[in-house]
Amino acid sequence: MTAPVSSASSGRPADTAAGGPGTVGLRFEGVSKVFPDGTRALDDVTFDVRKGEFVTIVGPSGCGKSTVLKIASGLIPETSGRVELSDPNIGYVFQDATLLQWRTVQRNVELFCELHKMGKEERVERAAAAVRLVGLDGFEGHYPNALSGGMRMRVSLARSLTLNPEIFLFDEPFGALDEITRERMNDEVLRLFRIERFAGLFITHSIYEAVYLSTRVLVMSARPGHIVAEFDVPFEYPRRPELRFEPAFAELSGQVSHALRGGYGP
Ligand SMILES: Nc1ncnc2c1ncn2[C@@H]1O[C@H](COP(=O)(O)OP(=O)(O)O)[C@@H](O)[C@H]1O
Ligand SMILES: [Mg+2]
Repeated sequence: MTAPVSSASSGRPADTAAGGPGTVGLRFEGVSKVFPDGTRALDDVTFDVRKGEFVTIVGPSGCGKSTVLKIASGLIPETSGRVELSDPNIGYVFQDATLLQWRTVQRNVELFCELHKMGKEERVERAAAAVRLVGLDGFEGHYPNALSGGMRMRVSLARSLTLNPEIFLFDEPFGALDEITRERMNDEVLRLFRIERFAGLFITHSIYEAVYLSTRVLVMSARPGHIVAEFDVPFEYPRRPELRFEPAFAELSGQVSHALRGGYGP
């Protein structure tokens, strides 16, 4: 079960306990997951994501990354260990944009507000603001099948933004996009991160995407997933696309790659 994070259990200084930067948004403590068929997906996973942080988990396919996010969001229960969430207001973006084909962009973006039984006026207003935020103004009346993959992902992002999430979970959202679009979407997410100040937990296969986006990269082992290494990313925001070609970026990416291949340790 998820439980609120109290300032006492966060272990952080008192001046960061009121919800500002540094407060724990999400904490996993010794979390393991065994599915009913006996599949051991996670083994003793411990990490936290503080407000103002953008944490990325990289790990091989099938190691339990999606399972971490499903447990974090309360979609499925952990088998043992403890999960703490400071605020139930989370955003969740999947690899597939999961849009309703029969609804326009505007109506797709209104969906979560509708599910939260928000009044029409507020819903329309929030959706319009989110559409602007992701740069889709002018496309409000379009249907999903008339949009590119990148634009569909923007709709998916906007839909989550309408609820002003404190914690944003991303499950390989750009894995199916071409490289150029993916890099653009990375900048888009960082722009939103800097405006909205959510705590981000991002899952990816891509070492470069992980290093480019994050304040911290966690490396997961093959199943059962376990955090085997952690890297602080020292680069300032806003990050420039050219950062990807700088020696310090290559060096850190190399260290993450080494850990992924089983060498562990920073
Ligand atoms: N409902 C389930 N029942 C049994 N096994 C599952 C279930 N969901 C996922 N798994 C297994 O758990 C492991 C981790 O899955 P997942 O978290 O989706 O991996 P990843 O996202 O890292 O690719 C995989 O071996 C997957 O087949
Ligand atoms: Mg997955």
